[in-house]
Amino acid sequence: MGGGVDLGLRRERPPANGSDGAMIRLSNLNKSYPMASGKLHVLKGIDLSIGAGELVAIMGASGSGKSTLLNVLGLLDGYDDGDYHLDGRRIGQMSEATAAGLRASLLGFVFQSFNLIPFKTAAENVALPLYYQVVPRRKRNRLAEEYLERVGLADRASHLPRELSGGQQQRVAIARALISSPKVILADEPTGALDSQTSLEVMEVLRQINANGVTLLIVTHEREVAARTRRVIRLRDGRIEGDGPPEALSASVPLAPAAFVPPSPAPAAVPAS
Ligand SMILES: Nc1ncnc2c1ncn2[C@@H]1O[C@H](COP(=O)(O)OP(=O)(O)OP(=O)(O)O)[C@@H](O)[C@H]1O
Ligand SMILES: [Mg+2]
Repeated sequence: MGGGVDLGLRRERPPANGSDGAMIRLSNLNKSYPMASGKLHVLKGIDLSIGAGELVAIMGASGSGKSTLLNVLGLLDGYDDGDYHLDGRRIGQMSEATAAGLRASLLGFVFQSFNLIPFKTAAENVALPLYYQVVPRRKRNRLAEEYLERVGLADRASHLPRELSGGQQQRVAIARALISSPKVILADEPTGALDSQTSLEVMEVLRQINANGVTLLIVTHEREVAARTRRVIRLRDGRIEGDGPPEALSASVPLAPAAFVPPSPAPAAVPAS
């Protein structure tokens, strides 16, 4: 990746709010998809608390509900019953405009397929969230350059996505997620399309973002990625079947619920400043 990556983001302390200081708190959350043949119950009574500054991996078999959970957490989709508190706010029924406003101010997203606009340069892609927030062009451009530099891509600002490697495209997508200073970044298989060496480089960028105080949730199938987080949550058929430190992953046997220690208090991922 070359050179140090200086993400220089603000440091944050856990907020004092109405959800026990948790950035994300789910209580008995259920979600179904309506189907012609009846409801498909996908999230089945999820209880989960994630503190500000945590670095969490979400693992589980295909179809276990990981993306569904991330979409609910990201206010991209609703839920049927239970409770969701995000940064102290209760997230219930809300208009799309309210959800969009919360997403813009609190959340950043990173996807497996990068989701860059093919005919826009790296810098224009990074600046895009600010365009929607009606930030003046000059400031958008300055910030885009700054964030590209933080992910080590200052010299690729004018490249189109097709002129970048997969790892570079994902770093552009990460810079785009960061540019609006989110408190939480939700990443759905961010390294799923990358080779293992590039995966670890992208993971290093994500870890530095987290070290600067951003709460980070990463859905992944890769043990090596999960091993670089501080907490691994395993979903199985819409339920949490394991929640513990990644050390449990190093066992050579296939991951099993018994390999996990019981849920423990949130590790302090934010260094004292
Ligand atoms: N929009 C939808 N409408 C109906 N069913 C859906 C929808 N999205 C997902 N599902 C179903 O919900 C279940 C969970 O899907 P989800 O995408 O959350 O799984 P996942 O754990 O992310 O899997 P993968 O590892 O393959 O990405 C699956 O059975 C899927 O078929
Ligand atoms: Mg998925």
